[in-house]
Amino acid sequence: MSAVAPSPAAERRPVPPRNRVQRFLTSSIGLKLIMALTGVALSLFVLGHMLGNLQAFQGAEALNDYAKLLRKEPALLWAVRAGLLTMVGLHIYAFLALAKKNAAARPQAYRKRVWRESSYASRSMKITGPLLLAFIIFHILHLTTGTVHPSFDAHDVYHNVVTGLGGLVGLIYVLAMAMLALHLWHGVWSMLLTLGLPEGRYGSTGRAGATIFTALVTIGFAVVPLLVMAGVIGPEDAAPPPAATSDAALAPPRPAEPEPATAAPKAAEPAAPAEAK
Ligand code: HEM
Repeated sequence: MSAVAPSPAAERRPVPPRNRVQRFLTSSIGLKLIMALTGVALSLFVLGHMLGNLQAFQGAEALNDYAKLLRKEPALLWAVRAGLLTMVGLHIYAFLALAKKNAAARPQAYRKRVWRESSYASRSMKITGPLLLAFIIFHILHLTTGTVHPSFDAHDVYHNVVTGLGGLVGLIYVLAMAMLALHLWHGVWSMLLTLGLPEGRYGSTGRAGATIFTALVTIGFAVVPLLVMAGVIGPEDAAPPPAATSDAALAPPRPAEPEPATAAPKAAEPAAPAEAK
């Protein structure tokens, strides 16, 4: 007696999740929760990063000291980086899985789309999301690794900012912050709803909260490239030597060059004045 071969349709059927946790994490509400919780973590990161960047207003020493502080515990720095990467990965995974579920729930496309309650920001999430990801990749290659920076100095974050954010690149940063605004505004609002804020009663409070948070973060970020482009934040001519932002630069300052052995002693001559920059 020959065994009955499974039909191609049965072969393609997805394997149902085995346990409750798995079922929850692959359900629409579970995926929305993943999006919301990773969204909270990423929002806190951008808020912290924006506040850190404002050190640029205090000058080179303050910003470089801040960068040095972040590198004080390399293990912690790498743990935070790994955590961030995981958050971004889970955020994207949940978005894609939800989109797939929605498409499967309505296999036939709408003949004519009618936008009612959805705002421009909510419809543009699938555009602002990938563009933001592209910006973050460029941004890391620009200000963290220096791969695409014209005069990167691993010991001087302030220098990298003021020489890297002028002109066209500054404009790209400002446009990216506009994209971040659209993404954050809708993201924070949906996150509040997923986490239980009742839309009817507290709808306007939630929208106001999302608006204030988004304005604070994006304006706080955008002022830096805007003021660099305007020349308000610029190179510090009389700045002390760049503060150390890596282990190599933490070495004690070099002693002054000794006088050449052949030079005759000039007892009565006054010391030459330091060269003014
Ligand atoms: C005008 C806006 C921004 C400025 C001026 C800025 C500035 C900087 C600077 C100077 C660094 C290097 C810090 C260091 O090496 O110590 C950095 C790193 C980074 N920034 Fe930004 N940033 C901006 C916007 C953003 C945004 C919107 C995001 C995310 C959505 C972001 C994510 C990151 C990440 C992930 C790193 C790498 C951190 C690490 O070293 O692991 N930045 N940023």
